[in-house]
Amino acid sequence: MSVPPASLGDAPPGETPPGDALEFQRLPVTPRPPSQRDAVLAAPVFGRTFTDHMVTARYTEEAGWHGFTVGPFQDLPLSPATSALHYGQAVFEGLKAYRQPDGSVALFRPELNAARFAASAARIAMPPLPRAAFLASLGALLEADHAWVPDGADRTLYLRPLMIATDRAVVAAASGTYLFVLFASPAGAYFDGGIRALRVWVERDQVRAARGGTGAAKFAGNYGAGLLAQKLARERGCDQVVWLDPERRRFVEELGAMNLFLVAREEGRDVLLTPPLSDSLLAGVTRGSVIDLARDAGMTVREAPIAIERWRDGARDGDIREAFACGTAVAVAPIGSIRDATGDTVIGDGRPGPVTLAIRQRLLDLQFGRADDPRGWRHTVWKAT
Ligand SMILES: Cc1ncc(COP(=O)(O)O)c(C=O)c1O
Repeated sequence: MSVPPASLGDAPPGETPPGDALEFQRLPVTPRPPSQRDAVLAAPVFGRTFTDHMVTARYTEEAGWHGFTVGPFQDLPLSPATSALHYGQAVFEGLKAYRQPDGSVALFRPELNAARFAASAARIAMPPLPRAAFLASLGALLEADHAWVPDGADRTLYLRPLMIATDRAVVAAASGTYLFVLFASPAGAYFDGGIRALRVWVERDQVRAARGGTGAAKFAGNYGAGLLAQKLARERGCDQVVWLDPERRRFVEELGAMNLFLVAREEGRDVLLTPPLSDSLLAGVTRGSVIDLARDAGMTVREAPIAIERWRDGARDGDIREAFACGTAVAVAPIGSIRDATGDTVIGDGRPGPVTLAIRQRLLDLQFGRADDPRGWRHTVWKAT
């Protein structure tokens, strides 16, 4: 049984409804036999193995969003002249389905991904998918693919909504036609073999986003722009890049494709610090959730600019005791040291700290249904009848 998700968010003014009323055409699909599915789920390779189904829809100026279909996961036939391949109109989302202790399947705050998908599209001059249609598509895919949501510690089904421009036109202008695709990839635990602290590279030459740019959108081009720095960071023995602000190259913004937090000691208490939202960083669902969870637990959380030297010197003096990154893929990732051309600075004892681990546990317990959900963040999308 699928639980209609349309109540999760109404179409904002100006958007045509769908939601509950949305009809999905269902194409014939031959699912893989359970033995093959179980073999994939026993050792999921994140982002490289996919489920049996996908949802698609089309946009034209005349018909708006239409043709919502649940069909087989398959390659897309694309002309070499497809606009997205040349001019980059492509936005996406990332969220997960979590198997609950009673066997049902839940999403975590999917209405925020729906809103961000719409905002990302608008920033790249693409037609926002109505939020209710986004949520109904998640429900339709999970109804078809619920058996692909893994069981077991930290295992999830990663969901990837994508929108691309499809005009067959080598013309540098906003496309008139678009394709929405939603597909899924089973994911194992991010930290296979036990949680460890990351070593991160402070990037001073390249920037991820500019003032007035696209950094606050989940726009494909942002990720392409970050790949070289990520490659160089790896060559320098680091896991991820610390992005600094685009103007002064001084204030920390994000860590790779994750948001960033520091744990500082102030007047005998642990305080969480995180960079404020701006047009050069992505407002993570996890970031917002961590802030709320920390405040619920009585911690002070300060959203204010953090200079890189404040982080480095604070870590050396012992007043910055922990650091972590957060995002849907990883949940919460401890940071053990920062590296730049001047050398390494270890944070705390270089290992995952207690505040970081407690926040991580709290978040995962909520997502996997092991803890009460007073804020109503979990949304059941599938239940056995
Ligand atoms: C650039 C960037 N920052 C932060 C995040 C974390 O966002 P969320 O917590 O919604 O996954 C992501 C991942 O989506 C990202 O791509």
